Amino acid sequence: MGILEGKAVAVTGAGRGIGRAVALDLAANGAKVVVNDYGVAVDGTAPTSEVASAVVSEIEAAGGEAVANASCVTTMEGGASIVQSAVDAFGHIDAVVCVAGILRERMLFNMGEEEWDPVIETHLKGTFTVSRAAAPLFREQRSGTLIGFTSGAFAASVAQANYSAAKGGIVSLVRSAAAGLYKYGVTANCVAPVAKSRMAGAVPLDFQMGDPEDVAPLVTYLVSDRARHLTGQIYSINGGEIGVYNQPEVVRTMSKEGRWNPEEIAEQIDLGIGCERLPILDMLDRMAAAAKKKKGGS
Ligand SMILES: NC(=O)c1ccc[n+]([C@@H]2O[C@H](COP(=O)([O-])OP(=O)(O)OC[C@H]3O[C@@H](n4cnc5c(N)ncnc54)[C@H](O)[C@@H]3O)[C@@H](O)[C@H]2O)c1
Repeated sequence: MGILEGKAVAVTGAGRGIGRAVALDLAANGAKVVVNDYGVAVDGTAPTSEVASAVVSEIEAAGGEAVANASCVTTMEGGASIVQSAVDAFGHIDAVVCVAGILRERMLFNMGEEEWDPVIETHLKGTFTVSRAAAPLFREQRSGTLIGFTSGAFAASVAQANYSAAKGGIVSLVRSAAAGLYKYGVTANCVAPVAKSRMAGAVPLDFQMGDPEDVAPLVTYLVSDRARHLTGQIYSINGGEIGVYNQPEVVRTMSKEGRWNPEEIAEQIDLGIGCERLPILDMLDRMAAAAKKKKGGS
């Protein structure tokens, strides 16, 4: 008996990369799986239904149970059809795992609606459409779990304001789902993965990356009954390293009787609350210094 025996789970973006590894691992642990994938290129274009079907064949060949769904997560109909696929095929749904994503990189000063809208729609709205369809069923059955896929880039990213904003939105959506569904016994958590995939291949990174298969057991655990005490969390994972993010909170305050004026704030802020430096700026300073040194030396 696997730890997910009897569970029905829908995974979006499960045709490739991390989503595929997650779907295979869920099935290997006993879950019945809806393999959703719109089958698009990294930038979201050129859909094909073959990608989802191929993973269903892999699961079946390994002795598991799965159905394919080639809907696009960006529409309400698409989200509803993914959840309905589980209900139709397996009679119920216990978890949704929203992995589907695309990239359209551009500096903010060059970014157009054609980069902004599809990225926000696929990641953020795509997590909403599926969660929205599952939430009433979870509420009714007084159980269920939602897993959103965010990224370390939610904290900041140089040439991905669209992606970073979508991933930050997913964090807030998932935290709000955790709060809103808490009294119904429904949980919601985020995974922030790093793994070698075609999407990661497009991003220059200066650290080692694990494999999509390294991410899958964390998702399997979060779907299992062993994780029912966890909600509103963000877990990072890269290879063998799992981390947990802190919860955002006000870290210092400064007060006076009545209203501040700008001059008083200017005088007091560095002595009082100071600031919390954006960590990525240190990396950018190091890169700029290295580039300057190289230029000076050549
Ligand atoms: N790979 C990494 O290092 C990394 C880092 C941080 C976050 N992530 C996140 O993990 C998730 C998976 O990334 P990956 O690296 O496996 O990417 P990937 O490109 O290999 O897989 C993404 C899958 O999503 C599918 N998809 C795209 N748009 C869709 C839509 N509208 N409807 C349904 N399916 C759609 C694609 O067809 C593709 O199969 C993404 O949300 C990504 O942002 C990945």
